[in-house]
Amino acid sequence: MVRLDGLFLRVAVLYALAGLGLGIAMAMAQDHSLMPAHAHINLLGWATMALYALVYRAWPEAAEGGAAWMHFWLANIGALALVTGVSGIYAGYPESFEGVAIVGSLLTLLAMLLFTAIVFRRVPAMRESRRARLPETSAAR
Ligand code: HEM
Ligand code: HEM
Repeated sequence: MVRLDGLFLRVAVLYALAGLGLGIAMAMAQDHSLMPAHAHINLLGWATMALYALVYRAWPEAAEGGAAWMHFWLANIGALALVTGVSGIYAGYPESFEGVAIVGSLLTLLAMLLFTAIVFRRVPAMRESRRARLPETSAAR
């Protein structure tokens, strides 16, 4: 069965390779005009996707159900559109790529809103009380 944490992590490392590759290309060419694309490929692609992977790994109950899958697709389509749009804009084609960046940023925000709802509903903010756990422990013995 496919796991959401592993899938997010796979996407994250692919963004890391793209972001690092672009950073090296920028440094070699001594042309930093694509810096915002590099920054967002690394931060929205590598760092954010890897954090999503770690959260779903730490709280597997958050990954259960359709909402988490919806979050995966929104986050991925959003990030891809955002970095494509930002790359196109800073490569010198703002009129063609602004729309893509706008759609990407709105989908990215929507993904984070859905993730916020998942975190608030599925990730407990309180420790389970000792009393609640005790009967289960004694039954297991
Ligand atoms: C192979 C590794 C990397 C190389 C060669 C590289 C190269 C660069 C270069 C040349 C710039 C432009 C600097 C400037 O014009 O001021 C830059 C900016 C930036 N890089 Fe990287 N980078 C690398 C890895 C990373 C990673 C791993 C991240 C984040 C996880 C990252 C995040 C950023 C950010 C946020 C900026 C913009 C900084 C600012 O606003 O001044 N980079 N990088
Ligand atoms: C809806 C998603 C996002 C939008 C629309 C957005 C938009 C922008 C814009 C317009 C800039 C200024 C670029 C310029 O200098 O011309 C910027 C810079 C920056 N953003 Fe974002 N951002 C988003 C998400 C993020 C996230 C999630 C992170 C970090 C995890 C991030 C980190 C940065 C950093 C470090 C810079 C400064 C580096 C640079 O100038 O490129 N952004 N962002």
